[in-house]
Amino acid sequence: MSRITLKVNGSTHTVDVEPATPLLYILRNDLRLQGPRFGCGLGQCGACTVIINGAAVRSCILPVSSVKSEITTLEGLSPNGRLHPLQQAWIDEQVPQCGFCQNGQIMTAKAMLDKIPHPTDAQIRETMNATLCRCMTYYRVQTAIKRAAQAIADAQPPSAKEVVA
Ligand code: FES
Ligand code: FES
Repeated sequence: MSRITLKVNGSTHTVDVEPATPLLYILRNDLRLQGPRFGCGLGQCGACTVIINGAAVRSCILPVSSVKSEITTLEGLSPNGRLHPLQQAWIDEQVPQCGFCQNGQIMTAKAMLDKIPHPTDAQIRETMNATLCRCMTYYRVQTAIKRAAQAIADAQPPSAKEVVA
């Protein structure tokens, strides 16, 4: 067992774990964060996605001892209960069906929008391609991402919009 300290959504946590334990298990079982889901456990579906260093990462295959940077989970997108534009867009577009994959959809989309504020349809499809949804919500995911991108742009102060323009 090792004592490992993690920074998650702005808070610091110390856990006693086997170093090879997947990060997902620590997030869900020790820290009680239920945003990231256990889907395949093999790095193939995306349900367990979190963001580390700006990248969407599959926490089910990531040894907890390898994590050196802050982790953002779905819960971290809405501090103080204020919804992130992606979460609001998900509601407005009624994206989820069973909901199981939706953590992965939103977190993957978040990492993309942080790098590409106005993605094309092709960029969205390419980025979201490996985040699987058995309920086939893909078209609504794409529509919601575009809605969120617009909402984020609209919320920018005028000076920032001019810089973008
Ligand atoms: S549960 Fe991690 S990729 Fe499927
Ligand atoms: S909403 Fe059911 S798996 Fe995606």
